[in-house]
Amino acid sequence: MPGDRGSEPLVLGIETSCDETGIGIVRGRTLLADALASSVAEHARFGGVVPEVASRAHLEAMVPTMERALAGAGVALADVDAIAVTAGPGLAGALLVGVAAAKGYAVAAGKPLYGVNHLAAHVAVDLLEHGPLPEPAVALLVSGGHSSLVLVDDLTGGVTPLGATIDDAAGEAFDKVARLLGLPFPGGPPIDRAARDGDRDAVAFPRGLTASKDQAAYRYDFSFSGLKTAVARWVEACQRAGVPVPVADVAASFQEAVSDVLTRKAVAACRDHGVSTLVVAGGVAANSRLRALAGQRCAAAGVGLRVPRPALCTDNGAMVAALGSRLVAAGVAPSRLDLPADPALPVSLVSV
Ligand code: KG4
Ligand code: ZN
Repeated sequence: MPGDRGSEPLVLGIETSCDETGIGIVRGRTLLADALASSVAEHARFGGVVPEVASRAHLEAMVPTMERALAGAGVALADVDAIAVTAGPGLAGALLVGVAAAKGYAVAAGKPLYGVNHLAAHVAVDLLEHGPLPEPAVALLVSGGHSSLVLVDDLTGGVTPLGATIDDAAGEAFDKVARLLGLPFPGGPPIDRAARDGDRDAVAFPRGLTASKDQAAYRYDFSFSGLKTAVARWVEACQRAGVPVPVADVAASFQEAVSDVLTRKAVAACRDHGVSTLVVAGGVAANSRLRALAGQRCAAAGVGLRVPRPALCTDNGAMVAALGSRLVAAGVAPSRLDLPADPALPVSLVSV
């Protein structure tokens, strides 16, 4: 019966592509549980995620996280209509743990299994907060491993890449610059905090691939490695001169450069394609300056902006469940039980 919540699909989503073991449960577009176990503290001293450490942590966290999710939602595995799992992109060993677990649960409970794309799932989580996505939309996907602009004609299958980073991902740039500034890993949140007390105009850091000569070949592409090098040179110059590095100013100016480029290109993509909705998704979408600047520029361009709340921007199981729920509702066929984990799954493949 339409509107009867009991008739909407109950979907469980499993996420293990990087360092977060996430299990989310949704009914339709209602979030019932979002259990998370993070191995981030185990990677901190290495300044980046160590794949083998992440895989082992997923293995240890899987069953307790599943139990927490089911208890939180007040359901049993037997109640769910489908299981969704991140099939890629991500770290090979980490993905394998989630995919193997999902297959085990699906076979044991006799449930259909959906292998889904991590990047599309970052977009789908917004449905839980802001309702059905007006399509076509443009999505700016910015995480630790990816930075891309995609055209979303249909979130269940019609996703077309427009551009991507040609070197570092936006989150990777935050993580590397944090390290240069002596801030902890992952670098996004401490840079965001430090920048609150800084002057975003203090240093004019470069805006990669925004020159007019780059507009033909790289209009929707990003480059952050020159920016990272510019920050390194600036920090070295302070050290050579024997003056303390003004961490807040550098953080604010760096964050401004990233936010400026991301929002400028995202709004251009909307305008060029006659699209009136922009979704910003992925861990970097939690950034306060990116959110604010995207808000200003979308308002000026007449584009509706959708950004999930910060806790849903970083990796979690709810996003996988949200995409799974959308696929079930659209009548998309489940995956085969021998579906592979694909570390390089292209953004255009929403489910496998
Ligand atoms: O999506 P995500 O949780 O994992 C990947 O799929 O990579 O993104 C993690 C990235 C990290 O690089 C982290 O530094 C960044 O998101 N991040 C942020 C913020 N919170 C997390 N970057 C900027 N500002 C933030 N507030
Ligand atoms: Zn992610």
